[in-house]
Amino acid sequence: MPWEGPLRKSPKKTAELQERIRLPARESPRVARLARTVRRGVFWQLLLFTLIAGVISVGMALYPAWLPATASEQADRIGHVFWFTTIICAGIFAVVAAVLVYSLLKFRAPRGDNFETDGKPIHGHTGLEIAWTAVPFALVTAIAIFSAIVLGKNDKVGDNPLRIDVTAQQFAWSFKYPQHQNLAATVLRLPVDRTVRFHFAALDVLHSFWVPEFSQKQDTVPGIDTYLTVTPNKTGKFPIVCTELCGLGHAVMRSTVIVMGQRAWQQWVSRAGQATSGGGASAGKAVFTEQGCASCHTFKPAGATGTVGPDLDKLPEFAQAAGQPLEQFVRESIVDPDAHVEKGFPPNVMPKTYKTLPDEQLDALVGFLTEGAS
Ligand code: CUA
Repeated sequence: MPWEGPLRKSPKKTAELQERIRLPARESPRVARLARTVRRGVFWQLLLFTLIAGVISVGMALYPAWLPATASEQADRIGHVFWFTTIICAGIFAVVAAVLVYSLLKFRAPRGDNFETDGKPIHGHTGLEIAWTAVPFALVTAIAIFSAIVLGKNDKVGDNPLRIDVTAQQFAWSFKYPQHQNLAATVLRLPVDRTVRFHFAALDVLHSFWVPEFSQKQDTVPGIDTYLTVTPNKTGKFPIVCTELCGLGHAVMRSTVIVMGQRAWQQWVSRAGQATSGGGASAGKAVFTEQGCASCHTFKPAGATGTVGPDLDKLPEFAQAAGQPLEQFVRESIVDPDAHVEKGFPPNVMPKTYKTLPDEQLDALVGFLTEGAS
């Protein structure tokens, strides 16, 4: 007797159950034919389950827009890898789900079985084992090769990249265009269809540069130069997000990238370059606007009404209270904002990025604030 089971409990029931789970015998042609028909039926049922599970999983991958529309060549390539991998996963999920559902339906313990019977032990199936090793190996290798090709392509900068130096700091981003008189900005403007090479520097802790529509993230690390290549291929306005928990202000460490037509971008560069250079009040006002001072401060000459930081129309009073000449006080407050913190305002809120402003722009800004306030 090959299998005894709980004979002592109920010999009759056990014999019945044994009969039910026995595989079809192969002796007679009639039984063999029956077995073939059963196997074919199993195949079609499994195929049906596979198709249903496949449609559901592909539908779930497609239907809610999981990812934002891409806006760079690199993001498009990453999208191809993403969908290649997702389709493979959906296929494997469908096969596994089909076999699982089929097994749940067909091999349920009979009613009244009370866990007394068990299936026939199966040991070893060389063909199956080779298949489930070789197929995943081939799929994972394909994904690895595809990803390597995309990574290689995404890192190519071409012959004329636009270099942008990015400074990350608690809790602000700032950008410099070294090929364009070191133009500085807190809102990033890029020309469409030109490859941009970002060079990142972090002044304090780890940050991470992310534009969801560009699909790539790059950490910024104090003391280490990091890089990222992006070729924007859609004009528009996209968010820049810090994705590395960097302190209390992490959630507000955001900026905007504006991808412009090439001609519009050229015009902006020359206008901003002229506006912020050459000194004088108009240059100072341009720096004030470009650096985003208005988002936090009130300053009538610039039409600014921010209330996050102190009212800059009161700079002369603040300087007097600090016992400093106005110009010296203004300059110090820009490059070292925590030297004097006005009453009612918390320290460590104003970014320290402004100390990296080119001298010419800093002079213009100090001049604008000093003259405008007095
Ligand atoms: Cu910087 Cu988070």
